[in-house]
Order: sequence, then structure tokens, then C-alpha cells
Amino acid sequence: MTGLLDGRAVVVTGAGRGLGRAYARDLAAHGARVVVNDVDADEAATVAAEIGGVASAHDVSDPEQVDALIATCVDAFGRLDGLVNNAGLYHEAVPWEENPEAIRRAVSVNVIGALLCQAAASKVMRGGAIVNASSGGMFGFPAVSTYAATKGALAALTYSSALDLEAVGVRVNAISPMALTRMTENALGRTSTAGSGPPLAGIEDKPPEQIAPLVTFLLSDLAEGITGQFFRFDGHRLSIVTTNAFADHPSIVADDWNATALAAAFDGPFAEHLQAYGVERRRPGRLRCRRGVSPP
Ligand SMILES: NC(=O)c1ccc[n+]([C@@H]2O[C@H](COP(=O)([O-])OP(=O)(O)OC[C@H]3O[C@@H](n4cnc5c(N)ncnc54)[C@H](O)[C@@H]3O)[C@@H](O)[C@H]2O)c1
Repeated sequence: MTGLLDGRAVVVTGAGRGLGRAYARDLAAHGARVVVNDVDADEAATVAAEIGGVASAHDVSDPEQVDALIATCVDAFGRLDGLVNNAGLYHEAVPWEENPEAIRRAVSVNVIGALLCQAAASKVMRGGAIVNASSGGMFGFPAVSTYAATKGALAALTYSSALDLEAVGVRVNAISPMALTRMTENALGRTSTAGSGPPLAGIEDKPPEQIAPLVTFLLSDLAEGITGQFFRFDGHRLSIVTTNAFADHPSIVADDWNATALAAAFDGPFAEHLQAYGVERRRPGRLRCRRGVSPP
């Protein structure tokens, strides 16, 4: 039986558990040869043994280790056709309780890790596809500003990389998955998101295996021509995340802007166009600000 990904070699980062493991298993089931990467060496080795892949315990936030990760794939399989930038750290804190080291760690794994993997992979990929793990958190969720910022960065890098890598036939897409994993179990257990509304509602019934077909599809030739896109998927609902970059932005043209003229614009024509934000509890475009209140 021929598989969708027969002969293809794929690196999945953070594939020792959770979503990455589900992606690696599904890719292998469709014929791909997979490098199962995870800083948790035991978990990576277990998954690699199970699917006949190659294990890598490299840390994606370290440039030399990323070069070694990509070399592992090329040495083992002679090529690299797919990269899933899945490794990630979840970090929760309200801004006034942030920890500089935790911020640095989240940025270095989630953002720098993806950028390093993409940089190293793009030197050897001649066609194929990259999938970046973003998150619905980037649209606003309480107490995750660091995590949300890193995931917004993955959406942003997808749009630009898709332009750059078009020249070498590599497609780049982002996904916002939703599944019960160690990461989301931890999030459910925290006070700030416990009993939360829509974003995590029903996540207990969403296994990572249900997300995997989207990654397999995006890495396969069935997705030919699909690049620079961002999809949300919870295993049931598949959505295209739209950008407003090319919409007709509400705008006002004047030659003599000053603070008073700006205030008049915000009280007048702009009032109905300010954007709602926050996935769980949508905020109106304009809040009544509280001043002089200490953090709770
Ligand atoms: N689970 C969800 O619903 C959800 C939602 C939105 C986005 N995501 C994203 O999907 C990805 C996978 O999430 P998950 O829920 O499976 O999380 P998870 O915590 O279960 O798995 C993440 C894996 O990444 C590995 N990892 C961490 N740092 C690494 C590093 N420096 N180098 C290599 N591997 C590293 C971990 O060891 C772990 O096995 C993450 O990027 C996450 O932000 C998940």
C-alpha cells in the first residue's frame, strides 16, 4: 500500500508526548520517516522505537543542537521534506508577577527554537513544508501574555517565511490546535483558567490524535499550493484564521493631527470600529479605565 508521505523525511520537535507524538505517529503511519525530537530523551526514544523513527534529544533553543537535529535527519534519511515546529513551553503569569527567566525561557523555546529550526531546515529542504504551532492564546487570554506573544510571533513568522521559502518550493503554514495534553491539563489546573469559558471548554474530549490529520495533510502533496495560511482546529471544527491586513481599515485623513483632533476621532468616527479582543471574555473596543487600583 502506498502512503501519502512515502519516501519523505520529517522532523517533529517536541514529539515525545502530547500533540507532537500524535503528529509523529500519524506521519509515520502515512509512510514518512520521522525524527522524533524532544528534550525529554526517554520520551523521544520511546516514540521513535514505536514508529521506527530516529530519536533526537536536542534542545531547539540552542543553535548548535538545532544544526545537529537537522543533520540527524539528513544523515539518517538523506533528505528533509518536512518540519513541524511543535516544541513549546506554556507559561502563565499576570504581568506584575512575571519572572524574567521564565519569559526568556518561553521566548527561547517557542520563538527562537522555531526560527533556528526553520533556518537550519531551509538550508537543506528542496520542496516540502513547514508547520508552525501557534495558539488561539495569541488573540487574548488572561495571564498568558508571554505565551501569547510567543505564539503571535509564530503566526507572524509564518506569513513572512511563506514568502521567502516560496522560492525554494517550501510551503509554510501555522496551526492553532486544541487538545488535551500535559500542557492543557496544567492550564486547566491553574486558578486563572480554571472553569474557564470557551477556549478550554470541552478540551477533555479532544485527544491529540484528532489534530494529527491536519499536520499530515499540510506536509503532503495534497496541500500543494497551500502556504502562508493559519488554521484553527480542535479535531472537529476547522477554521481559517483571517487577517485584516488587506481589509479596508477605518481611517481618517487630516493634515493637522494633534492630541485634541485625535481624541475627537476616537470619540467620533473611530468609536464604533475599535476592535474587540480576548477569546474567553470579549472586551468592547473601549473600556472604562480604573485608575490607582493595586493589582489583585
Ligand atoms: N494542547 C493544546 O491544546 C495546544 C493549544 C495551542 C497550542 N499548542 C501548542 O502545541 C505544541 C505542543 O503542545 P502540547 O500540548 O503537546 O504540549 P506538551 O507539553 O504536552 O508537549 C510539548 C513537548 O515539547 C517538548 N519541549 C519543550 N522544550 C523543548 C525544547 N527546548 N526542545 C525540544 N523539545 C522541547 C517537551 O518536552 C514536550 O514533550 C506547543 O507548541 C503548544 O504551545 C497546544
